[in-house]
Amino acid sequence: MSAIKKVHLVYFSPSGSSEKVLKKIASAISKDIPVETHDLLTPASRKKEYNFGSGDLVFFCTMTASLVLTKFDEIFGCLNGNGVPFVGVVTFANTLYMKVILLEEIKKYAEKRGFKVVALGAFPAVHTLAASLGSEGRPNAEDEKLMMDFGRRVYEKIEKGDYVLHDKIGADTSDADAEKVSSYRAVESGGHHVFPFREKAISDACIKCKTCVRHCPVDAIDIENKTFDLDKCIGCWACINRCPKKAIKATSPELAGLLEKFSGAVTVPFEAEIVM
Ligand SMILES: Cc1cc2nc3c(=O)[nH]c(=O)nc-3n(C[C@H](O)[C@H](O)[C@H](O)COP(=O)(O)O)c2cc1C
Ligand code: SF4
Ligand code: SF4
Repeated sequence: MSAIKKVHLVYFSPSGSSEKVLKKIASAISKDIPVETHDLLTPASRKKEYNFGSGDLVFFCTMTASLVLTKFDEIFGCLNGNGVPFVGVVTFANTLYMKVILLEEIKKYAEKRGFKVVALGAFPAVHTLAASLGSEGRPNAEDEKLMMDFGRRVYEKIEKGDYVLHDKIGADTSDADAEKVSSYRAVESGGHHVFPFREKAISDACIKCKTCVRHCPVDAIDIENKTFDLDKCIGCWACINRCPKKAIKATSPELAGLLEKFSGAVTVPFEAEIVM
């Protein structure tokens, strides 16, 4: 008899990659175990309470972006772990940034909410700011194989009753990588790089379908007036990537320079990180 009675997939996935990656990972778990999904993108979804209990296994996935961290109180605040096993996942697209910050934050928040963190994983996906940032074609077949392996190893680990995280996060980070992380943090603490991702405009191509409104994680879009509340906006680019008419464009003149800085931070090699 399996120790797992139900798998829960909890995700915050503005442009859809994190949802897809999580589903790929979970597809390696026995097909006999039912799966329930919990999409935490909208503010309304985070006003509900999600209570987990005996026999549940929770997989969580978010995108990497610094302003997503400002939503962690809300995202984790609606989850009650009650001691069930938890697997934290991030999708990322070019930099090491998340390895040392996001995975640690996810672990900290999950434990605070009463989960037992049994595994963490970071997996490559296409960059939602621009695929040209070293992420064309990701995840590729090799990435997907690693996702499935990860899902299988999690399953075996829990079936063995091993709920302890043995590896250290970022243990394989080289000195050169650590240097990149600290220079990235320096840019971030200057507060410069986040704002240009938020400035946007809606063109006449808009058909007022409200797809952007439905996928904005912070209710920052006024589609009648075609304006954005930039104080609320977390720069996730869900609106830009999901608009069927490509009517939303980033407008900051600083964006190109910042994307260049991002491409300079490309992780070599750009591959998955697994902590178990
Ligand atoms: C504003 C912004 C900032 C981002 N910052 C990073 C980053 O620091 N490091 C990284 O590897 N990817 C970064 N990304 C890329 C996303 O994390 C990546 O494309 C992710 O898979 C998107 O997930 P989603 O499709 O579920 O939204 C950023 C994306 C955006 C829009
Ligand atoms: S998703 Fe695009 S077309 Fe639809 S309302 Fe938003 S901007 Fe307009
Ligand atoms: S308005 Fe900002 S927070 Fe809302 S979807 Fe667009 S980029 Fe994301």
